Amino acid sequence: MAFIISFSNEKGGVGKTTNTINVAYGLQMRGYRVIAIDADPLAHLRKWHEKNNGEKLDVRIMDRESFSNDIKRVANEKTIIVIDGPPGLDKIKIQMLKVSDVIIVPVFCCPYDVWLSENVISAIREKQELTEGKPKSAFLVNRVKKGTNLARDIDVEIANSKFPVLTARISDSVAFPTSIAKGDTIFCTGESAAGSEMNTVIEEIIARFIPGDYLNVKN
Ligand SMILES: Nc1ncnc2c1ncn2[C@@H]1O[C@H](COP(=O)(O)OP(=O)(O)OP(=O)(O)O)[C@@H](O)[C@H]1O
Ligand SMILES: [Mg+2]
Repeated sequence: MAFIISFSNEKGGVGKTTNTINVAYGLQMRGYRVIAIDADPLAHLRKWHEKNNGEKLDVRIMDRESFSNDIKRVANEKTIIVIDGPPGLDKIKIQMLKVSDVIIVPVFCCPYDVWLSENVISAIREKQELTEGKPKSAFLVNRVKKGTNLARDIDVEIANSKFPVLTARISDSVAFPTSIAKGDTIFCTGESAAGSEMNTVIEEIIARFIPGDYLNVKN
């Protein structure tokens, strides 16, 4: 069975697509077999995929009508599947909630972004209560602006929410939009600070969530 990691938040523009691409690619670099799924009708992941002529990742497009069947077809292989979810309260979110092993909820490093994630968090909690804690989930604090108090203030809101959070965080950096716009990833610039932050996020996701036997599965 595949291990499914979704990036989900009803708030738009928080970094779902950017982090789907970089986490999926970073896992692939480490020897995991990875499929990235574009479940957003706006198809930003697909556009990135076209920009690099399909050379970076195995990307599949799934729409809400056929998602349940399409995901079953790929999920019987021992693969890491990374799903880029849509913003808003799209029906596909319920299907993502059903199939995911882990849901990462990116939030801008801003206290009220935690409030604006209320719907996705309560949907995940309801599902966890019914299915013995599955899917596991955590906030990913994105676009941390160094030298501001926002990072401290968001810690207070996250603690109040009692929802898990990844320790590793991603700074606000032009390297993210620049690399994605070229159809590339944050790792294309070599040993950048942003790339090493992304590596720390990926290592934490592996250590906290991904079972060991998904590494180095032969194609
Ligand atoms: N860490 C970051 N630093 C700087 N810019 C970032 C960072 N993460 C994301 N961005 C930028 O923020 C914008 C939104 O990011 P992205 O498209 O990944 O969000 P999204 O949640 O997928 O949006 P949507 O809900 O519209 O699908 C993009 O322009 C992206 O380049
Ligand atoms: Mg997106």
